[in-house]
Amino acid sequence: MHMHKLEKIWITIGIVTLIAFLSTVGIQAFTSDHHKPPSDLTVIDPEKVHETAPFDEPGLKELGDNKYELIIVLQSFGFTPNDIQIPQGAEVTIKVTSIDVVHGFQIPGTNVNMMVTPGHINSMTYTFDETGEFLILCNEYCGTGHHYMSAKLEVI
Ligand code: CUA
Repeated sequence: MHMHKLEKIWITIGIVTLIAFLSTVGIQAFTSDHHKPPSDLTVIDPEKVHETAPFDEPGLKELGDNKYELIIVLQSFGFTPNDIQIPQGAEVTIKVTSIDVVHGFQIPGTNVNMMVTPGHINSMTYTFDETGEFLILCNEYCGTGHHYMSAKLEVI
């Protein structure tokens, strides 16, 4: 089969670009820590969440010098607790799990955004520098009441 020289060059560019792109994505996916779900490998029995520490006592706990832990249980269609007060400047490690289906945990206006899978504990740390009222939203469709699933967080 005869191929024009320019056609060969163009196909070569296409193949090289494809290999470069797939290698970049592939190498990052398997080597970079930023491409893993934060702490989503921690497991919990979803049927025993209410008896398992720290989820047996949901809420905000002071751990030490301006450091807090916020434990939240998600279920269709709500957050426990759903009205949270946090002191300004607090460094909060948020730990979440679900007792039923996949939910989401997002605080719009911050970079807090986690997928909450039953059987897994997800967590991330965020410092609340500014006072104000924040909304906590479920951003994974979880059933008929999904759009009602929210909670209030106040930084005071
Ligand atoms: Cu929970 Cu959507």
